[in-house]
Amino acid sequence: MEKREKGAIVRAVKEKNEALASSLGKPLGVYIVTFGCQQNEADSERLRGMAHEMGYVDADTPDEASLILLNTCAIREHAELKTLSVIGSFKKCKEKNPSLLIGVCGCMAAESHRVEELRHRYPYVDFTLTPAGIGNLPSAILDRISGGRRCFYLDTPDTVLDETPIARTGGHRAYVSIMYGCNNFCSYCIVPYVRDRERSRPSCEVVAEVLSLVRSGVKDITLLGQNVNSYRSDVDFPALLSMLDEIPGEYILRFMTSHPKDASDALVDVIAHAKHVEPHFHLPLQSGSDSVLHRMNRRYTLEKYMGVVKKLRAVLPDIALSSDIIVGFPGETDEDFEDTMRALEEIRFDSVYSFIYSPRRGTPAAEMEGQVPSDVAGARFTRLLERQADISREKNLPLVGKEVRVLADGPSKTDSSVFSGRTDAGKLVHFKADAEAVGKFITVHIDRAESFALYGTVTSK
Ligand code: SAH
Ligand code: SF4
Ligand code: F3S
Repeated sequence: MEKREKGAIVRAVKEKNEALASSLGKPLGVYIVTFGCQQNEADSERLRGMAHEMGYVDADTPDEASLILLNTCAIREHAELKTLSVIGSFKKCKEKNPSLLIGVCGCMAAESHRVEELRHRYPYVDFTLTPAGIGNLPSAILDRISGGRRCFYLDTPDTVLDETPIARTGGHRAYVSIMYGCNNFCSYCIVPYVRDRERSRPSCEVVAEVLSLVRSGVKDITLLGQNVNSYRSDVDFPALLSMLDEIPGEYILRFMTSHPKDASDALVDVIAHAKHVEPHFHLPLQSGSDSVLHRMNRRYTLEKYMGVVKKLRAVLPDIALSSDIIVGFPGETDEDFEDTMRALEEIRFDSVYSFIYSPRRGTPAAEMEGQVPSDVAGARFTRLLERQADISREKNLPLVGKEVRVLADGPSKTDSSVFSGRTDAGKLVHFKADAEAVGKFITVHIDRAESFALYGTVTSK
């Protein structure tokens, strides 16, 4: 689609919306619900940016909205079922307000069987847009408000590299997508099917965006990609990171996710010498068993993975390490699982996100023999969770008595005097403060350490 054509579509929707708003006597509202990972959070900020451009304002509740967008996740069965039930809950909004538009976007909207289900069983859904097609939101809306039929766009033009407006919601923290899609086809994973192949944004665009965020006072910037290590434009990822690190100011640069097979010496070197890059590395292991890793198509062994960990710890001994682990992958034996438990003991991650394997239709693992019964997977999951909680606590204990820099977020929901924030390494800290601290780097003396959070006292603002 031509840029000018797009501008004309946005203007046409805006004009129609203005006419409707003046007959209603109030602006039209947009209500966006986001599921899934940070990449979806970032995409939702683009959906919101486009909606604002078309004249919608943020609605506080779905009942006040003229446009409801669901940005969905397909990573596990549970995520999909939860989303379908939330979509179902909007049926009554449509009954009350027949001119309401409901759009389902994101990863689930790129699965043909789910799109069929939405078409037949959710008649109040007006349109769907795939992650690659979210830039087509204005034309989907224009079609529908011009009397067109419900549209289920599985094959819209790829819009991911188009510069769509971004309406950020993170305050002093911001996400910046540097690339989209994935080429890795880990055998359990739906992402390459729903987000297509890797596409990297030009480095000049990324640098300009980060520069303007830092200038506008944003203090915490996370670069996003399913595998940032394979970022390729005129430069590679280590070069991009060191370019960004040159931007002057007080801010933290984070990035995720790194695939262990591509974590290069050059990247380790940049992190070791950078001024703004977080002292933390998220490196998904998935399993400690080489035969499981092989069947997962991860293309590294535990030994290779340990090599990356050693290199990181050689240059930054206190670097915080986090990981993702799947338990109950097809064919995972008790011995395979013990390999994973041993890897946890050896590596001693600061934190681990663990998941019970969930078969995804169309992926090779869903067809593999030896699907693990759910009670066996559940018992392994609990054991891993409990052991890792102890390790996480042990890893946090040495911080007790130390003063650490913390970027302060808002107050807790239950006690407005207790604030939370993150250390440079991304660890959650709770402390007493007032609203003035929000968005600032403060110094906190750590008094107590638990598995998932640190507790401290502010010593300087
Ligand atoms: N691109 C990132 C992660 C994407 S999804 C990476 O490669 O690490 C986040 C995590 O969800 C994955 O690391 C994996 O641990 C988990 N996951 C992905 N597919 C899954 C499935 N089918 N069942 C259970 N967990 C899954
Ligand atoms: Fe999924 Fe693997 Fe790609 Fe990550 S690298 S998104 S786990 S296929
Ligand atoms: Fe989910 Fe899509 Fe992210 S499947 S985890 S929202 S890439």
